[in-house]
Amino acid sequence: MEELKKIAIASDHAGFYLKEKLIRFLTAERYEVKDLGCYSPDAVDYPDYGHLLAKVVSDGEYPLGISICGTGNGISMVVNKHQKIRGALCWNEEISRLARAHNDANICSLPGRFINESEACLIVKTFLTTPFEGGRHIKRIAKISMKTE
Ligand code: RB5
Repeated sequence: MEELKKIAIASDHAGFYLKEKLIRFLTAERYEVKDLGCYSPDAVDYPDYGHLLAKVVSDGEYPLGISICGTGNGISMVVNKHQKIRGALCWNEEISRLARAHNDANICSLPGRFINESEACLIVKTFLTTPFEGGRHIKRIAKISMKTE
């Protein structure tokens, strides 16, 4: 039996319904999905969920994560406050592919109010299946972290 692949996901209320759809998609694709909330469409604050997601990815508990808010920007700003996180705002398949291939992104941030379910599934599938290219991108990624922190 093929081993389940692991993925963590979190959203605010603006990403809640897309998160639920992605969980169904990912489960069908044989991923073990860790849902860090939110758990209803009631209004919440995206930093509360972005930090939870960034922590499980930073700790190595989950290799990759998906974060969703209305624009994708707020929750992306939150996850990128964590040293080990490279969060990428992905709104189409090619951006998603390059986020993995060139940036070795470990969190894919989605704009829940601006993409539909099929676009989101394609973006996420691409993110999860594209390997980092390495090579010339390694030294660039090494320069992202602020040395003073
Ligand atoms: C919530 O209304 C909205 O501001 C939030 O989901 C996100 O888009 C913030 O960046």
